[in-house]
Amino acid sequence: MICFSFRRTAVAVMLLAACAALAAPQPPNNQEIERRIDALLRQMTLQEKIGQLVQYNGDTPEAAAQAKAGRVGSLLNATGADRITELQRAAEQSRLKIPLIFGYDVIHGYRTIFPVPLAGAASFDPTLVEQSERVAAKEATAAGVKWTFAPMVDIARDPRWGRIVEGAGEDPYLGSAMAAARVRGFQGTNMADPQSLVACAKHFVGYGAAEGGRDYNSTEIPEDTLREIYLPPFHAAVQAGAGTLMSGFQDLNDVPASANYHTLTEILRKEWHFDGFVVSDYDSIHELVPHGIAADDQQAALQALTAGVEMDMADGLYEKYLAELVQSRKLPMSTVDEAVRRVLRIKFRAGLFERPFYTNAARERSDILTPENRQVARRLAEESLVLLKNDNHLLPLPKNGKRIAVIGPLASDQANQLGSWVGRGQAADVISPLQGIEAQMPQGSVLHARGVDISSLQAQEVSGATGAAPAPTGATGAAAAERENGPATIEGAVQVAQQADVVVMFLGEPAGMTGEASSRAFLDFPGKQEQLLEAVVATGKPVVLVLESGRPLDIRWAAEHVPAIIQAWYPGTEAGNAIADVLFGDASPSGRMPISWPRSVGQIPVYYNHKSTGRPSSNDRWHTGYLDESKEPLFAFGFGLSYTTFSYSNLRVLSPQVTAAGTLRVEATVQNTGQLAGTEVAQLYVHDRVAPRSPRVRELQGFQRVTLQPGESKSVDFTVNAHDLGSFDTNMRWVVPPGTFDVWITPNAAAEGAAGTFQVVAK
Ligand code: BGC
Repeated sequence: MICFSFRRTAVAVMLLAACAALAAPQPPNNQEIERRIDALLRQMTLQEKIGQLVQYNGDTPEAAAQAKAGRVGSLLNATGADRITELQRAAEQSRLKIPLIFGYDVIHGYRTIFPVPLAGAASFDPTLVEQSERVAAKEATAAGVKWTFAPMVDIARDPRWGRIVEGAGEDPYLGSAMAAARVRGFQGTNMADPQSLVACAKHFVGYGAAEGGRDYNSTEIPEDTLREIYLPPFHAAVQAGAGTLMSGFQDLNDVPASANYHTLTEILRKEWHFDGFVVSDYDSIHELVPHGIAADDQQAALQALTAGVEMDMADGLYEKYLAELVQSRKLPMSTVDEAVRRVLRIKFRAGLFERPFYTNAARERSDILTPENRQVARRLAEESLVLLKNDNHLLPLPKNGKRIAVIGPLASDQANQLGSWVGRGQAADVISPLQGIEAQMPQGSVLHARGVDISSLQAQEVSGATGAAPAPTGATGAAAAERENGPATIEGAVQVAQQADVVVMFLGEPAGMTGEASSRAFLDFPGKQEQLLEAVVATGKPVVLVLESGRPLDIRWAAEHVPAIIQAWYPGTEAGNAIADVLFGDASPSGRMPISWPRSVGQIPVYYNHKSTGRPSSNDRWHTGYLDESKEPLFAFGFGLSYTTFSYSNLRVLSPQVTAAGTLRVEATVQNTGQLAGTEVAQLYVHDRVAPRSPRVRELQGFQRVTLQPGESKSVDFTVNAHDLGSFDTNMRWVVPPGTFDVWITPNAAAEGAAGTFQVVAK
């Protein structure tokens, strides 16, 4: 009852907020914007123009002076209504009074922290993800931020790469749905709304394909793979109206992404007609020198701007060299003007000229970390948990009559629940898993032991310079500190387990081991966690393993010996409540894997939408695979269990023959065949049997969350433009070749589900 009225209040407050947003000022129309830019450009000196292309750190003592002198167009990492107001006032004192745009990494929340983006993708719920970004935008703008360096939309097939945690996983369809949802959430319907952020899709493009999973490493991506796998989420972000993009650090087919004319200009501007601006990644213009394509910083600045990078993040090369380059006629003034135009255009669209002061301390106090915001975080965290295994219906756990031992180094930990890139999230705001479980159990029925420590591994955390996650404050609260006095030895944990009826273990990676510059060669549990797990399982008590990590870990032993496993990622501020909701069955697990889960590192990369090969699957030795390992992942893309079971049947192709310009319509029946209500994610996959270039074995073309009561069945139907089912031919032309296609509506990429075929016909 309490919960119900709380939810109702939350909805009412959200509606009020939505009404307030509707009243937001509209920016000038496009014609008016261009006219005002022309007028400004006529007045601007070369130095003032260059100033608009420069971004520096806003948390330095000299930032205000830089703004006053018109030497910067944007500042990053400055936050807080008072500080932002002070800096904007400084810009107001510059000759032309051009407002600053304040950038910050609001990656999965500002103060209320949502599940990490990979977890958000696991929800397969773009609507809720959009809502979470709306909340993030309201909080961040209240603190003066106007531009987020998000969403990160890099496709990644390699969990060794630490930044896999920041994206939506391996699939371009899911990645595009999430990219568009996040852009819509940040920007709302109007970037000029004081509660809207300008989005920045990053890192354009291919960064997630780093060789060997080593961050910043080179990428080699054939043009068709670039266009079919890596570019679609960026295109979706641009189509959703993203105001900006960030260019990547890495080398792409021998031309670093921050100097890549082909991707930045030919594709982004000429093909997609993007009219916003591109900011470099931190220092990535200077890095053209160590990349070996620029002899010195001046040449690097010339290459980046000419390729299509309008704003220089942090390294100061545009400020240092652009004037000289113009004067020596190496750089046409028209290139500078066009870059300035793009930056100003976004500032106008963001309403900064009309309303440079969009927040104040009172708004900052009232809009941040509200109960409604936390409620959205709780729901998204619930939906992002993936149930991987549940032998003999061990889950959900009963709330009464049993003693639960909560064991593991992450159980009472608050800071690590936030994951990497935590904005201004605070450990002290977080409900730890232990707190969440205790809140739902009778007093005295929860025991706790850490078992082992992983705090020393935090040393690997990336520090402040690039705005990455701040070191944990250690502010775990007095109560948590007390609980942490529980045994931190394996023997102690075993004793605690022995006193309980069931054990719930929280193991994984400290958050500092994921994210930027956090590549790993081994994906096993860091520290002594595996020994702890094995010792606790040896007690014979039923064990539920809750994994907290930014990537799939090597859990071969656990998958065989532990009866129930949940992948919880880093759930954010509401971690403990959401985990408890799922453990006790108040929320039915409905998350699905946004990446294939490798059995072992040696299988990487393993992803579902691979090519068939000439020797596909077979038990025979002379086929693709390994002598010493299965070639199938441990858990397929799209996989996730529920507390009930579902069946798929009766695939109906409503358009058995479709032209390339037509529409495919398919439906199937999904039934809840178990005893509890549950939510299934029905997935549509398609395969072209014969194409000009080897087709992928399956490609996701749709998904739907369906909630069903026990015994209930529903028809799920999908409509797809046949145009989207095509691929590039050998001349890089998009074709939808006539012929037979396979189609499945299934619970995951490896399941048969309900299957059928359709024909693409010439006319
Ligand atoms: C990261 C970007 C981030 C930027 C600004 C860089 O190190 O690669 O993703 O937006 O820093 O903090």
